[in-house]
Amino acid sequence: MRSSLALIFASVISSAAAAGSLGFALGDKRSDGSCKGQDDYEADFKALSAQTDARIVRTYAAAECNSSMNVLPAAKATGFQVVLGVWPDSDESFALDKAALIKYAPKYKDQVYAITVGSESMYRGTFTGTELLSRIQEIKKAVPGFKIGTADSWNKFQDGTADAVIKGGVDIILCNAFSYWQGQAISNATGSFFDDIKQAFGHIQAISGSNDAIEMWVGETGWTTAGNKYGDAVPSVSNAATFFKQGVCGLIEWGFNVFFFEAFDEPWKPVATGQDGTVADETHWGAMTVDRKAKYAIKC
Ligand SMILES: *[C@@H]1O[C@H](CO)[C@@H](O)[C@H](O)[C@H]1NC(C)=O
Ligand SMILES: *[C@@H]1O[C@H](CO)[C@@H](O)[C@H](O)[C@H]1NC(C)=O
Repeated sequence: MRSSLALIFASVISSAAAAGSLGFALGDKRSDGSCKGQDDYEADFKALSAQTDARIVRTYAAAECNSSMNVLPAAKATGFQVVLGVWPDSDESFALDKAALIKYAPKYKDQVYAITVGSESMYRGTFTGTELLSRIQEIKKAVPGFKIGTADSWNKFQDGTADAVIKGGVDIILCNAFSYWQGQAISNATGSFFDDIKQAFGHIQAISGSNDAIEMWVGETGWTTAGNKYGDAVPSVSNAATFFKQGVCGLIEWGFNVFFFEAFDEPWKPVATGQDGTVADETHWGAMTVDRKAKYAIKC
């Protein structure tokens, strides 16, 4: 399943690797911006079970909206696992998330697949690799016995920014890669995505000195179904469907694990700013609508 990336990319057609896992990024708010409760998460998981093969999701801040308190029992009731996120960017959120993990993770050991400390915190320049590593190690000490790592943009793993994290004994790394935010036309989006992931995973393997010492996932990828054009990237249901089928399912068929961003549309979100300063809409990235209907085929 985690044989050398070079090998897999060289033997695309004849690869006999077992299929990887599909997961979804999951927000902790309802469509109106209020906090989800356990019932909301259960409905989310039921919709994902019915319409996809996914049995795993990732969240971003363990204490925000009491998400760990609510998502873990919902996961238990519906047979899901969760990668719990810690938001280390402020001391306050870091302390609250750490306390939530200490309280809930050990009670739901079978539901907690892993813990990620930080989401694109190196990409934003909030932390160096060394600074992030010390926060990862603090969480590892606070909640021993769980897989632990981080999630960041693919290029921060490829360009050496994250080398201290890679060498620091983490168990799992999630690499985010959005051809859309790189302004790629849909015709080049899958190729560009594979190239990003190949470079990031390849650098992680080289720096860790092993093909499988660190478990690697795509942490976020996706395609918005509405909003403005970004470079040559055009939002539409049909382009999102194409990217899901070729990019997401393509990698999964070769044995890689992919979190799709994201499960459901989040209409409460404010506008976001892309790499080139363009203001863009982040409310239509869901594979499903807010009322949990698939927008396109989301089974690989
Ligand atoms: C979190 O849960 C506590 C205890 O049940 C409650 O007092 C608090 O209001 C909740 N916070 C949020 C943001 O839902
Ligand atoms: C298409 O993607 C490749 C990466 O696979 C990249 O090198 C190339 O520049 C992209 N083409 C365009 C027109 O951006």
